[in-house]
This record gives sequence, C-alpha cells and structure tokens, in this order.
Amino acid sequence: MKHTVCKAEELKEGQMKAFTIDKKSIVVIRSQSGEVYALRNVCPHKGPALSDGSLDGTCTASEPGEYNLEKVGEVLKCPWHNWEFDIKTGCSLFNPEKVKVKTFDVTEENGTVYVQV
Ligand code: FES
Repeated sequence: MKHTVCKAEELKEGQMKAFTIDKKSIVVIRSQSGEVYALRNVCPHKGPALSDGSLDGTCTASEPGEYNLEKVGEVLKCPWHNWEFDIKTGCSLFNPEKVKVKTFDVTEENGTVYVQV
C-alpha cells in the first residue's frame, strides 16, 4: 500500500528522516544526487534506529597505501557499531548476501514522497 510520507521539499539532498508507517519504523533518505530511498529503520545487529546514524561514503583500497572514497552519501552507518549499509540495496558492505536491511519502493509525484509498504 502506498503511503504519503512528506513533501519532497522537506527532504533535502543528503538528508534522512524517520517515519512510522503501519507500525514499522522506516528511514527515508535523499541521496546527494537527489534520488530517494527507504529502508527499515532498524539495524539487524542490535536494533538501534539507523536514522540516528550517519550518511557517508566508504573507503576502498586498490593497493597498499592507496585509498578511494566511494559511494559518497550512499552509505548509511549504524550509530552503535558503524555497520555500513548501501542505501540503494539495503545490503551491508561487509556481507551483502547475508546481512541486509529491508528496502521499500519510493516514488515522488507532484512534490510528494510516497513509500510502498
Ligand atoms: S547495532 Fe548496528 S552495528 Fe551494532
């Protein structure tokens, strides 16, 4: 079912907000490039709200001493132990096949953001 969550202008680039929809806590995030994503707002490790964490990128290394910052603004870090989740897929960066956060479909129509729950 499609639920209204907020006006599009209330969610700026790089910002996230938590909403309760059908008794589920959901974090809605606008990436720095403007797309909107929604994830279950519960860390699968110990359960804190992911919306209390931060949006960041992640560092990869192509060889010793050489670091690359990737997925800037597309990585949601848990506030407790910094597990990292890709906001586009909900997959953790350290074990994407097994450790994931549920994602929800998001649409923007006529200046309003909707989440399908
Ligand atoms: S509770 Fe989220 S990483 Fe531990």
